[in-house]
Amino acid sequence: MSAENPQLIDKYGRHIDYVRLSLTDRCDFRCVYCMSEEMTFLPRKQILSLEEIYKVAKAFTELGVNKLRLTGGEPLIRNNVMSLIENLGQLPGLDELLLTTNGSQLEKLSRPLKDAGVNRINISLDSLQPEKFRRMTRTGKLDQVLKGVESAVACGFDSIRLNSVILRGINDDEILDLLEYAMQLGVNIAFIEEMPLGDVSDHSRADTMVSNEEVREVIAQRYEISAIDMETAGPSRYYSLAGHQSRLGFISPVSHNFCESCNRVRVTVEGRLLLCLGNEYSTDLKGLLREQPDDSEALKQAIVKAMDIKPLRHYFYDEEQPQIVRFMNMTGG
Ligand code: GTP
Ligand code: 5AD
Ligand code: SF4
Repeated sequence: MSAENPQLIDKYGRHIDYVRLSLTDRCDFRCVYCMSEEMTFLPRKQILSLEEIYKVAKAFTELGVNKLRLTGGEPLIRNNVMSLIENLGQLPGLDELLLTTNGSQLEKLSRPLKDAGVNRINISLDSLQPEKFRRMTRTGKLDQVLKGVESAVACGFDSIRLNSVILRGINDDEILDLLEYAMQLGVNIAFIEEMPLGDVSDHSRADTMVSNEEVREVIAQRYEISAIDMETAGPSRYYSLAGHQSRLGFISPVSHNFCESCNRVRVTVEGRLLLCLGNEYSTDLKGLLREQPDDSEALKQAIVKAMDIKPLRHYFYDEEQPQIVRFMNMTGG
């Protein structure tokens, strides 16, 4: 690693330039595919402070990371989150500050987020029917989220994308409605296959799994879609929709593996640097941050060293059995 041009490269030659930082494991929703109904969240002492999160982000940008995505739980319910986001927005070397949210706080926070330098936002939205929205999120209010989406649109972010997880027998009748809502607003939409993360009690994942191929066929019967080369930091494959500005994305972690081009790592709010979403390879950064709070070099060295344990790929299903790892809210998506 040269001192002027530090970089993170794993042992398979993949260049890590994208970090997903979870700001909290808590959430105001309890989506059925993400959480069980009763969840225990981390005690305050166990989570990184906003200052510690900032140190981690700074270390990564000094190691050549130019994209940060803030995730949760729901990142925007963390106390004083805007003060952290304002500081992150000023980090030298950062090209993109991104956010994934459930939209519940966007009506009031879209403008401050835009002013703080957030470039793009992904907003989860799985149903446009109030009753069903409540069934899927257990606690969420559709109306509040739609107001949030609309206020984000009004603020002029570089791009907004809706994220929809489609579950058979629950919201698979809303594929076109969700797409058309995105088209009306001129925002993008990505359909995501449900991943077996955490043991959810609500449904059997084997029964609700809808492949993205199936979703694409439903859409292609109504709209003319063409695959396009659109590079984002993430794993989506994109299509254009003839005559519309919205882009249609598919994230297919179960049916297609995109690990060979993986450019990202994650940091949980407990300060675990997770090298892959689908398994447990990790390095503890919190201990280091607390033992040597002023040693940014030691932090960077620990991050560089961790690249050696980034695995080649994830195996969500091993011989057809789901290998259930952490709940998604612990990982930050
Ligand atoms: P863009 O930068 O806009 O492309 O974002 P993204 O798709 O990476 O981010 P988002 O937070 O919206 O994530 C959407 C879905 O993609 C979530 O379900 C994530 O868990 C999933 N996802 C993101 N990165 C990975 C990954 O490395 N592996 C797997 N299996 N899924 C991922
Ligand atoms: N599988 C797929 N996507 C999930 N998300 C949460 N849990 C899962 C899961 N088990 C999605 C949310 C959000 C994004 C960060 O991850 O809907 O859009
Ligand atoms: Fe909260 Fe997002 Fe999980 Fe839903 S998917 S419970 S909004 S963290």
